[in-house]
Amino acid sequence: KRVGICVSGGLDSKTVATRLRQAGVECVCFTADLAQPDEDDIEGVLDKMRPTGVETIIVDLKHDMADACFRMIRTQAMYDGGYWNTTGIARAVTVHGLLGPMRERGCTVLAHGATGRGNDQLRFERYTNVLAPDMEVYAPWRDPALLDQFPGRKQMIEFLAEHDIEVDLGPRKRYSTDANLAGLSHEAEDLEDLGTPMSIVEPLMCAWPQTAPDEVETVTLRYDRGNCVAINGVELDRLQCMYKANEIGGRNGVGLRNALENRIIGTKSRGVYEAPGLELLGTGLRAVYQAVMDRRSTQLFHTMSQNYAQQIYDGRLYDPQARAILAAVDVLAEYATATVELGLYKGNILFRALRDCPHSLYNPADASMEASDGLNPVSSQGFVEVQQVEAIALARAGQIVD
Ligand code: ARG
Ligand code: SIN
Repeated sequence: KRVGICVSGGLDSKTVATRLRQAGVECVCFTADLAQPDEDDIEGVLDKMRPTGVETIIVDLKHDMADACFRMIRTQAMYDGGYWNTTGIARAVTVHGLLGPMRERGCTVLAHGATGRGNDQLRFERYTNVLAPDMEVYAPWRDPALLDQFPGRKQMIEFLAEHDIEVDLGPRKRYSTDANLAGLSHEAEDLEDLGTPMSIVEPLMCAWPQTAPDEVETVTLRYDRGNCVAINGVELDRLQCMYKANEIGGRNGVGLRNALENRIIGTKSRGVYEAPGLELLGTGLRAVYQAVMDRRSTQLFHTMSQNYAQQIYDGRLYDPQARAILAAVDVLAEYATATVELGLYKGNILFRALRDCPHSLYNPADASMEASDGLNPVSSQGFVEVQQVEAIALARAGQIVD
């Protein structure tokens, strides 16, 4: 048996790698480059893991991550009524991207560092189960032997010291952060108390509105069939687009959210999220969708959007249902070509203009309150009369209660 361990370079990762090696288990560590905005660059993980004596391999998944972000934007997939679940989406990309390299190295077991209370364990395992049913999964933090040996950070530090592995702990963190191109989630520790304001978080991508610039920053987004292809007139690929949108949205403080979310198993969890790029590109696309989707398509879209967000959260992005939604959303997004101009101001995104939208259904002449050569108001008489029939029937039957 050979174990492929998913690592981040943190205390837990070092402990698990060292502990398994010491127990004589053959293992290789893998870390995904998800274009995370962390201070340490991804190469730093290699330095951190080196003392464990277990080889670490970096797998570049930056473009996969950008593609996943674009699918999130196309589906407008916001979970629990309004935030972008940046962690859920990254788990799909990570497991999908690491399985190949793990197999090439002869690994038959995937080990992950998620705890036994959260969502991530379920995501890591289900993605492994559906994408590599022959692969075993090992969750050290659900293994009674390890939980017993390492009830807390203190024991891990002591254990590593015994193996001459230095741990650069830095100041105590007030919460745990998970980061990637889509954004960041902060949770646990001090954030668990609902009496703690979200403002204890030191955002890594976003400015707080009070420190954002005092002027409106205008940004022009060009969309082609539901995908952003240019920002401020500069053509960009998906990865560059996400970097740029994170930068512009971030400095203006958009996409910061507090959430008391519903975990997969039903418990609630408090988190603070940063997703400036998704918020910016998602809001721009929403303006295009509003112009090109008819009323019934819009209703269908809302249902699919919510459902896709749920699949991201639940770790089910390769299931037939999620694929069916993506295919259906692409039918509607086919018409979402336009240029949108937005104004960013202290956490707000203000609509400025929609242009060059060949499939727009909006016709001011038909909608206007002014006299125009659009829809003839007299023709609405018939529609109103037909509507009357049902309304009066409901009233006479005593079914309307005020
Ligand atoms: N609760 C969030 C989710 O399920 C984030 C989980 C990981 N985040 C973290 N800061 N450790 O997607
Ligand atoms: C963890 O449990 O490892 C992180 C939190 C979560 O997955 O919800």
